[in-house]
Amino acid sequence: MSKFRVGLGVSGGIAAYKAVEVMRLLQKAACEVSVAMTRHATEFVQPLTFRALTGGHVIVDDYDPANPDPIAHIKFSQEIDLLLIVPATANIIGKFANGIADDFLSSTYLACTAQVMIAPAMNTTMWEQPATQRNIERLRADGVHFVEPVAGELACKTVGTGKLEDVENIVSQAMRLLSEPPASAGGPDVVTDWPAAYAAGSDLSGERFLITVGGTREAIDPVRFISNHSSGKMGFALAAAARDRGAEVTVVAGVTAAEPPKGVRVLRGISAEEMHSAVKGEIERATVFVGAAAVADYAPVNAADAKIKKEGKEQLTLELKKTPDILAEVSRNRTNGLLVVGFAAETSDVVGYARSKMEKKGLDMVVANDITREGAGFNTDTNIATILTRGGEAIDLPMMPKREMADRILDELVKLR
Ligand SMILES: Cc1cc2nc3c(=O)[nH]c(=O)nc-3n(C[C@H](O)[C@H](O)[C@H](O)COP(=O)(O)O)c2cc1C
Repeated sequence: MSKFRVGLGVSGGIAAYKAVEVMRLLQKAACEVSVAMTRHATEFVQPLTFRALTGGHVIVDDYDPANPDPIAHIKFSQEIDLLLIVPATANIIGKFANGIADDFLSSTYLACTAQVMIAPAMNTTMWEQPATQRNIERLRADGVHFVEPVAGELACKTVGTGKLEDVENIVSQAMRLLSEPPASAGGPDVVTDWPAAYAAGSDLSGERFLITVGGTREAIDPVRFISNHSSGKMGFALAAAARDRGAEVTVVAGVTAAEPPKGVRVLRGISAEEMHSAVKGEIERATVFVGAAAVADYAPVNAADAKIKKEGKEQLTLELKKTPDILAEVSRNRTNGLLVVGFAAETSDVVGYARSKMEKKGLDMVVANDITREGAGFNTDTNIATILTRGGEAIDLPMMPKREMADRILDELVKLR
């Protein structure tokens, strides 16, 4: 018997072929999948592919007499537990955000009462366009979930953010959403009511976690920035694990390539400065601070107001200044038994650097990893780490999913109380 019914909406991007794999993985996870495509999507993949694999009619046009139901978008939208759009074009996101219903998929979105999850994929410039970001913000506020695109080489041969997230991650985020109790309306920026009965244990109940997550972005000019490869997956895994063990969790997220877990409060701090001021505003209430974000150590001294032109410049020198050391400042100023945990992503003498970081900054715990190792570090779903604690032995953790590692880290944290 099917566990969940998923309406898979495919729009007209180059990554449309990956929707076939998403459909297969959903079926393997015992979901019943019905597929709808935009007219442009059929330029990339034939509806026949989906029809052959689902055994069901693939709807493209509301007005097609071959549709099994004369008001197809109403029936389709009301017989699903999740509407999942893979890939989502900038165009379909814009239509959803603005209530435009001029084809089957956009009419279905408007008629849909189920949860909606969108996995965008597009060229970096399209992704970063203020219009696209505005539409995404609006949809988030409407309670739509996003599987953020990741950085990588795109079909247009440029490198940047806009690549569809791995199909396995899309499906695992969809399955998590389907399995979780529904959050209250208002999107991830709102504290959601998390039923205590859902918590796996409660050894962290009464604790208030403040966790920084993801990478920061330091502007060079309105177009360019300095950043790093952090995806936020480890920080979000910790947030989810702490939540499940009864803690109240606030996350300050920079740039991330994963969906924040439900039931945690999410604040944004995209640059090191913004993250710093968000942390300053929240730290008073916290009982545990985890610095899992990869905060840029340096930022341009003066971000240019207009795009820096390349004409006539063979070389360009950027003057950088040190950013605030959030972790050291939190640790230095603590007064109330706050536990402070840092992360150290290194490429050599990992444990040596981590131990000196712990001592210099007066931390209670450091989770160190060698990001050059296969299965560790940024944008992977697994990690390999060594945990160092104040006065304790080094604990080596072999490769394991980030969520499992999060629980191992919390086990050690509980011992420090
Ligand atoms: C070869 C090709 C590749 C495209 N890839 C993308 C893409 O990855 N993401 C995107 O947002 N638009 C992409 N487009 C543009 C969309 O197809 C176009 O905006 C279209 O109107 C989208 O229609 P739909 O949203 O109804 O499917 C591409 C167009 C072409 C011709």
